Amino acid sequence: FGSATLAGLRVLVSAGPTYEDIDPVRFIGNRSSGRMGFAVAEAAAAAGAQVTLVAGPVSLPTPAGVARRVDVRSAAKMREAVLAASDTADIYIGAAAVGDYRPAQVAERKLKKHDGAPLVLDLAENPDILKDLAATHPHPFLVGFAAETHDVAAYAQDKLSRKGLDMIAANRVGAGLGFEADDNALSLYWPGGSEELPRASKRELAARLVQCVGMRYRAAKP
Ligand code: PMT
Repeated sequence: FGSATLAGLRVLVSAGPTYEDIDPVRFIGNRSSGRMGFAVAEAAAAAGAQVTLVAGPVSLPTPAGVARRVDVRSAAKMREAVLAASDTADIYIGAAAVGDYRPAQVAERKLKKHDGAPLVLDLAENPDILKDLAATHPHPFLVGFAAETHDVAAYAQDKLSRKGLDMIAANRVGAGLGFEADDNALSLYWPGGSEELPRASKRELAARLVQCVGMRYRAAKP
């Protein structure tokens, strides 16, 4: 930490899971703890950026140096918060694990069991925040994350081009890495280049990621 790679830049970071309500007591969520995204927010602030952090439902304190934190629950609310803050952001780093689907209808009352009959939930697809940002002009320098269990490089490079991103940080999930874990390992890809960040703590990786984002940003927008 400590260098001023991002001095003068406004960085928007999303972190954590989203919860999609089924009824007043149940939801569909995922295992993101928010640790990777919070570490990125902290590292960006330490690198001199003015940081806004949009956080899904996590139980983490706001990292040192973060100027503004917006707490949200669902993918729709995360999208609203990210789009509202994106006008004044130079860089967006999407570390959140945004739910791809939500229940098509949220039941007003707690769902009851029906004598062993299966419960069928209709799921509607959530909008893709990164894709929506890429479609607005002008838009911030876009850094996505990709969480994959296999074929990490191929899926990550596909997401880089399909979502119109400037960089993607891919992590293999499972085996003490990725979701919930203290450690992670990242493969960074951008159009025409890549860099491996081997296994380390999420704080160390976040600092290295932020250095790389700073360099790519300056190269793309001299
Ligand atoms: O929170 P931790 O426990 O520390 O775990 C960290 C992490 C594994 C969650 C994190 O490092 C990570 O990989 N985050 C992205 C996980 C993910 O949802 O990947 P994805 O392949 O589904 O999505 C790819 C990218 O699109 C992500 O930048 C995501 O924020 C974005 N996306 C996805 C869906 C959607 N509707 N809108 C989006 O913007």
